[in-house]
Amino acid sequence: MLKNNFPLGIFDSGIGGLTIADAIIKCLPHEDILYFGDTAHLPYGDKSPELVRKYAAQITEFLLEHNCKMLVIACNTASAFAYDFLQENYGQRIKIINVVEPLVENLEADRSLSKIAIIGTRGTIASGVYPKKIKAVIPNVEVVCKETPLLAPMIEAGFFHDKISQEIIEAYLSDQQFKNIDAIVLACTHYPLIKKEIQVFFGEKVKVFDSTDFTQKAVKNVLEKEQLLNNQKKKGQHRFFLSDNTASFRATAKILFGSEIESEFYALSK
Ligand code: DGL
Repeated sequence: MLKNNFPLGIFDSGIGGLTIADAIIKCLPHEDILYFGDTAHLPYGDKSPELVRKYAAQITEFLLEHNCKMLVIACNTASAFAYDFLQENYGQRIKIINVVEPLVENLEADRSLSKIAIIGTRGTIASGVYPKKIKAVIPNVEVVCKETPLLAPMIEAGFFHDKISQEIIEAYLSDQQFKNIDAIVLACTHYPLIKKEIQVFFGEKVKVFDSTDFTQKAVKNVLEKEQLLNNQKKKGQHRFFLSDNTASFRATAKILFGSEIESEFYALSK
């Protein structure tokens, strides 16, 4: 089998990366996909960098064993803590895409921004990856950051578009430091599922950025450049592996993909 026809490997701690997988499936329908949701260890956002790197390495080994041609880190926390490590240890064997860089490149292209808010997990915010990368390309912009640790577990548990999610979102976003922002970055791949609420909260004058579109374009560009696009004519096959079989994963996958998905269990070693 040609390398082109090998699957794309995508991973996250849980359902968040499905927002990225969904965007990739829509733009690259012929690609086979292996998705790994590390549901046994979520949330990644409250774990130490060392532990997130350990899980990311185990998942990468698993995806390599399944012949993946590309690795998409569909998680901001893992991108912040583990991208350099994975690049160093596996970069020779597999192309690796993270979710931070494609988004920052697109912020750079938008000349209208003078104050940007970032919300994400404790880990992503503590890593400082966004302000550092944004300031490197747009030096005069003001960047304000807030950790919003309840959001990913809330979404993972199926609370979005309801009263509970509404209250938590409002409590976080009412922070005074968000006054006069012109953009907010959803620095967690779970958050596109509450993007509408966030847009409504701030109104149309604030741009809401998430990584789904930009990551999908980055994946497509690299596959084209490396001549790795799958040339099969039929629709790609999608397999979903979970380190713990959770009902909420299947429920959210159904919302995103419109039909039930079958998930397979794979235990990561302790
Ligand atoms: N979806 C993830 C992210 O983008 C992780 C959420 C979590 O497990 O804490 O950071």
